[in-house]
Amino acid sequence: MPVTILIGAQWGDEGKGRVVDDYAARADIVARYNGGDNAGHTIVAEGRTLALHLVPSGILYPQVVNLIGAGTVVNPLRLLEEIAMLEAAGIPAGPDRIKLAAAAHLILPTHRALDGAHESRLAGRAIGTTQRGIGPAYADKAARINLRAGQMRDPDAFAEAVEALLHTHNAYLEKLYGLPKADIPQAVAALRQAAQQLAPYLVDGAQWVAQALAQGKQLLCEGAQGTLLDLDHGTYPYVTSSSTIAGGALTGLGFGPGAVQAVIGVAKAYTTRVGAGPFPTELLDETGERLRRIGHEYGTTTGRPRRCGWLDAVILRYAAQVNGLTGLALTKLDVLSGLPELKIAVAYDYHGERVEHFPAEWGSALLAEMTPIYETLPGWQEDLSLIRRREDLPAAAQVYLQRIEALTGVPIVFIGVGPDREAFIR
Ligand code: IMP
Repeated sequence: MPVTILIGAQWGDEGKGRVVDDYAARADIVARYNGGDNAGHTIVAEGRTLALHLVPSGILYPQVVNLIGAGTVVNPLRLLEEIAMLEAAGIPAGPDRIKLAAAAHLILPTHRALDGAHESRLAGRAIGTTQRGIGPAYADKAARINLRAGQMRDPDAFAEAVEALLHTHNAYLEKLYGLPKADIPQAVAALRQAAQQLAPYLVDGAQWVAQALAQGKQLLCEGAQGTLLDLDHGTYPYVTSSSTIAGGALTGLGFGPGAVQAVIGVAKAYTTRVGAGPFPTELLDETGERLRRIGHEYGTTTGRPRRCGWLDAVILRYAAQVNGLTGLALTKLDVLSGLPELKIAVAYDYHGERVEHFPAEWGSALLAEMTPIYETLPGWQEDLSLIRRREDLPAAAQVYLQRIEALTGVPIVFIGVGPDREAFIR
């Protein structure tokens, strides 16, 4: 069973890039199955910080081939920029290293314009999207009018199809939103050129995965965003527009569940969220500020400050359930050093009633009425960044980890103790 699925167990930004980076060292293929350049995985390698948005994190390992799967949405212009950034950093990023599934959907410049337009229209109820065109591209996919990557193989036919969709989008922009229309000839020319450059990267994604699995290759599926941003099982409507959970890897790449060996949920040792929507353990005080400052909690994609709060075990239990987690990777434990005491939400209080289960299906309005029931644990003062064995962690940190395992029923298999690529315990 050669497949490992690695997903975010919270609201995204769990530090998946670091964990993927470690797992990628033992993989043959790393595949993205959902989302697009709304993701931002930062990897620190040999003193360099690389922000990857679309290209899977396996790109740093010469033995890994990286697949951008059918379930993703790809902005061709942004993908080319990222490829150029990697090449400039001395990391080969040609078609032998990156494969683009022909069934992946495309993001056009007008999808981005429409993302901004929808958000402005929502005013006070805006989702707080990354404005990368994700929602509108998936909406067009579901409406069966979108373009797929495979169409780039025939630049003339592709240019024609792009033009037709741009006309549709322009009608929305102009008539519905009263916004300026996109310059169609310019956009078509840019996309036509991008198609020529990207055509060599195209593969039949599901077929390619099937062949690799038949050859016994190790496939690592790299989830983008997190469980609570899942379109079906997240905190709708404050979610992204794709399947972020483990099941998304199966539909987004096209293989069956029998191949899955492990499902690793990545969680921060505390909780963060970007964008709008309820967040029960959010800290609006000095402690929240401190987590943001010490944890550098600013978005990789948008630079927005992240909302910070205590660890929420209700969320992690839910993530364990909907993803079938076999292991937890806990990142940024070091950020908690120096706090006198720590809190973990073990349940919620809903008007006097104790709630143990995360109420995602009942919607954000209900969640907003829930307050956390906390358990308080002792903090620790030591610097953790050089510790490489779990038993060498301060006693209070070990208690914190044991409590998380007891509350979630999932073993912790990876612990991040500092920003360096090697600063983890496994
Ligand atoms: P969209 O994916 O740009 O449509 O944004 C929808 C919601 O998902 C917003 O709350 C975003 O802040 C959030 N989001 C999207 N991508 C990420 C990510 O990579 N990390 C954290 N939040 C994200």
